[in-house]
Amino acid sequence: MIEVQHLTKRYGRVTAVDDVSFRVERGEILGFLGPNGAGKTTTMRILTGYMPATDGKAIVAGFDVFDQPIDAKRRTGYLPETPPLYPDMSVVEYLQFVAKIKGVPSGERRQRLQQIMERTRIDDVGHRLCGKLSKGYKQRVGLAQALIHNPDVLILDEPTAGLDPKQIIETRELIKKLAGDHTIILSTHILPEVSQTCQRVVIINKGRVVAIDTPDNLTARLRGSETMYLQVDASGADAGASLGRVPGVTRVVESDRRDGMTGYEIDSERGRDVRRDLARLVVTSGWGLLELRPMRMSLEDVFLSLTTEEVPTPAPEAAAALEGEVVHE
Ligand SMILES: Nc1ncnc2c1ncn2[C@@H]1O[C@H](COP(=O)(O)OP(=O)(O)OP(=O)(O)O)[C@@H](O)[C@H]1O
Ligand SMILES: [Mg+2]
Repeated sequence: MIEVQHLTKRYGRVTAVDDVSFRVERGEILGFLGPNGAGKTTTMRILTGYMPATDGKAIVAGFDVFDQPIDAKRRTGYLPETPPLYPDMSVVEYLQFVAKIKGVPSGERRQRLQQIMERTRIDDVGHRLCGKLSKGYKQRVGLAQALIHNPDVLILDEPTAGLDPKQIIETRELIKKLAGDHTIILSTHILPEVSQTCQRVVIINKGRVVAIDTPDNLTARLRGSETMYLQVDASGADAGASLGRVPGVTRVVESDRRDGMTGYEIDSERGRDVRRDLARLVVTSGWGLLELRPMRMSLEDVFLSLTTEEVPTPAPEAAAALEGEVVHE
């Protein structure tokens, strides 16, 4: 449904987007994640035809955004970083205007408007001027204008920015409901939002894709070795030493201790599940078992490890080889 091939955008000497490629399948929600200045907004602007790329190709709903911009735009709803509102129009006037320019047939406009205003929960501000709305309401009207012509593809640049917690949850639910019928790319800085809403994630840093995968695979794949957390009541016994002798265990670190309970972080060889042996040791030693669980890297850890890595910048060939290692697709 969306295909981006070797997209590059340069602003003078700044390369904002550098050889970015990815695909989004029909009905999928793709999360676009990256630190400030990573190139998210630039990529979205190119995809929505607001700006030409320096190089590369983008196909949206079967149309090349450079060669067939009108067909591509007709099938795209775009919520820019700053909602594109006319401050002197009321919300209803503005949405009627957008519906008209986006080609919603006049007989259907009224009903469509009502439906979208209910869905985005702006029916109570229909007659207020856009310019006088609070930030959260402006964001909701921005979402409404992106949805008004029922586009196949939705490109949402930080759709939950500026919303209150209740509205964030409602907007996420709305986005999830829209997937299936719509193909969605959304950018965000909120990491839990990605695991809650998106099937796949593109992480970009300094204009380059550093990882593309499902949130689960990203957190599992970058874990390195397997780590378990075990908490026992071993009352005085040197549990750490015994745990270290379990076959497959490579390292035991005491992580916390209180009221006679001790927590350990236990590393094991990759691919080796030591849980049964750990449990057996606990039982045969007569310790009390309080907790045993795998420790996963959080998406936050993954994000930081991929975007703050100090990559040395020697010869271009060596740099290319280094980058090849971190790209997971
Ligand atoms: N019109 C412009 N002229 C020059 N440089 C620009 C322009 N727009 C963006 N840039 C630069 O391109 C890079 C990418 O910016 P972009 O806005 O795409 O980042 P972003 O990932 O959306 O960041 P944020 O999370 O802060 O929204 C930045 O270095 C930015 O300074
Ligand atoms: Mg941005």
